[in-house]
Amino acid sequence: MSQAKITVIGSLNIDMVTETDVMPNQGETLIGNAFSSFTGGKGANQAVACARLGAAVTMLGCVGEDTMAQQLRDALGAEGIDMQYVKTVPHQATGIAAITVTEGDNRIIVIPGANHCLLPEDVLALKDVIAASDMVMLQHEIPLETVEASIRLAYSLGVPVILNPAPAVRLPEELLAQLHLITPNEFELAIVTGLERQTTPESLLEQYPHPIVMTAGSNGAYYKAAEGTQGHVTGHKVEVVDTTGAGDTFNGALAVKLSEGAALEEAVQFAVAASALSVTKLGAQSGMPLRKDVEAFIQQASH
Ligand code: RIB
Repeated sequence: MSQAKITVIGSLNIDMVTETDVMPNQGETLIGNAFSSFTGGKGANQAVACARLGAAVTMLGCVGEDTMAQQLRDALGAEGIDMQYVKTVPHQATGIAAITVTEGDNRIIVIPGANHCLLPEDVLALKDVIAASDMVMLQHEIPLETVEASIRLAYSLGVPVILNPAPAVRLPEELLAQLHLITPNEFELAIVTGLERQTTPESLLEQYPHPIVMTAGSNGAYYKAAEGTQGHVTGHKVEVVDTTGAGDTFNGALAVKLSEGAALEEAVQFAVAASALSVTKLGAQSGMPLRKDVEAFIQQASH
């Protein structure tokens, strides 16, 4: 099996994480438990997830002209990610995410900063990089026109794209049809497609006309393959510390397995296991597992 080549086009943030027992009400001040800062951003997280799981990863994105940019370059570089196409944008700040973690759950506000400077022409100029990829991964923390141009370019080159539509926005059907796979949760799927929520996840997927993997948190994920086969992979019971980045780990794992030629069901099983492991540590990237850890976990779970 040759090493999967994955290009991630997306955001790079520094996550400012506050841990607290309860969320403050409007107008209320609380004393929290702890503060930490981590490298994050959905794009950077997915790149790290792919790299730890064995892929050769190239990152396309933008950082600002500040020390946080170097922090991101160092951290992702140390994971073996090719950072040469990450642009430093003069007079811009690197993206920031203000994250509050309470009982393992999180609330996030992103200030995109330099992430919003990644333009369609930046991606179009890297046509050769895209053409040489086994898979392209996208999310919605960069400008929508860049996401759209990237999908169209990859499609025209015959390179499969996984779109993780977070934060969710409505997308035209003609663009959805060009995706290899979309990976929303139920809430995001309703926004992206305008589909009404149904009584069951299965009936919701029946309404969607293309291949899809719908994540369902601790309940695992539902999938529909290109040939129409549907299925559900149940979640694993783990001790949850922080769910930040679980979706990014899921997407990274899915991309790696699919790039290696796995069937969708096997890739979803791998992704559900990887994301379960990722929530056992604080910070999006801290808990992202290595390939051998996911394989051992799957082995153990099957006994
Ligand atoms: O998906 C988690 C990520 O969302 C965090 O790392 C934060 O930066 C936001 O982009």
